[in-house]
Amino acid sequence: MGTYKIAVLPGDGIGPEVTTQALRVLERVGARFGHTFQTTQALVGAAAIEAEGDAISDATMALCQESDAILFGAVGGVSRYEGPNSKVQPERALFRLRKELELFANLRPVRPFKALLNASTLKPSILEGTDLLVVRELTGGIYFGKPSEIRQTPHGLEAIDTLLYSEGEIERIVRTAFELARGRTKKKVTSVDKANVLSSSRLWRRVAERVAADYPDITFEHLLVDACAMHLIRRPASFDVIVTENMFGDILTDEASMLAGSMGMLPSASLGTRQTAHGTFGLYEPIHGSAPDIAGQNKANPIASILSLAMLLRHSLSLEAEAQAVERAVEQVIDAGYRTEDLQEAGTTIVGTEEMGRLIAEAVTATS
Ligand code: NAI
Ligand code: MG
Repeated sequence: MGTYKIAVLPGDGIGPEVTTQALRVLERVGARFGHTFQTTQALVGAAAIEAEGDAISDATMALCQESDAILFGAVGGVSRYEGPNSKVQPERALFRLRKELELFANLRPVRPFKALLNASTLKPSILEGTDLLVVRELTGGIYFGKPSEIRQTPHGLEAIDTLLYSEGEIERIVRTAFELARGRTKKKVTSVDKANVLSSSRLWRRVAERVAADYPDITFEHLLVDACAMHLIRRPASFDVIVTENMFGDILTDEASMLAGSMGMLPSASLGTRQTAHGTFGLYEPIHGSAPDIAGQNKANPIASILSLAMLLRHSLSLEAEAQAVERAVEQVIDAGYRTEDLQEAGTTIVGTEEMGRLIAEAVTATS
């Protein structure tokens, strides 16, 4: 029995709809296991720009700093705010959180539910046994390297981006991957790079090998990113932990998300090194965005948000049994044939966001 502080940032679009259902599940976890979860909500994204003039205020940043973990919905909506900051992008909230809280490790597990093997664009026989975790570096690489600009030359315009990694940045993400592999069944790490072409990848490979030497109990391999893209859909079940730099991870995780059938199914965690009294501080969010096309219609699949909550319980609060109870509840409701519209198949019962959340919350109490 414990007391835990969670900052809740629902955001805009379907963010608040799916987060509400995750909180409903959290309430049941608290009741069943005897924990007190102190949740404090704050605005981010379009709603924060309208009310506070920025995508995330200093007060909200402070709230996050004082919490054990952050449960995040989605941002991306258009703000109606017309003022000095009307050009602020809602997405700035996420970048500020990741950068200032040093959340450098983005974990994206992909484990298609058995009952959903037919929902994927891949054949069930290829998907069988898939249970992989992409560990993507989140605060370095080509998305942050300087210079990054379009500039004038005597011969016309040219543009430059910079793929920069320090030894330290590579080492901490690769080490995170190996530590995570130790807690998994297949105990294998695949480091993905483009070492046949890029200098940054050659350093990546050198550092990865050095770290791997500390983990003789883990199988280790290198794979070039283009080959990895192919093998992900050819033999997804052969992977366990995949560790890679920021942009490669961005692309490979979108590809991998299709193994699970829908964007609405996939959770994520963004972790740093900071430890709280309960575990590793982190931010948890569905991989999808604010989905303006279905917002406000009770159609969004809340499972990605609910599975993100399970990751929060596991990594930031060290509540493994509670995390598994949430994951089992989701599986049970899926097995019982309930689906949101994004997973529509013959023979299933279509329910809305609220109903799906209620069923999963009830299953948390009911399952042993
Ligand atoms: P999106 O992920 O919001 O939506 C893509 C498609 O998937 C849409 O057709 C949507 O209806 C569907 N979808 C997404 N989540 C779903 C769910 N839970 N249940 C059922 N269907 C779901 O990506 P899109 O449309 O490219 O971006 C919309 C906005 O979200 C943009 O402003 C973008 O910048 C922002 N965004 C924010 C992210 C975040 O907050 N972390 C991540 C990705 C995009
Ligand atoms: Mg992406």
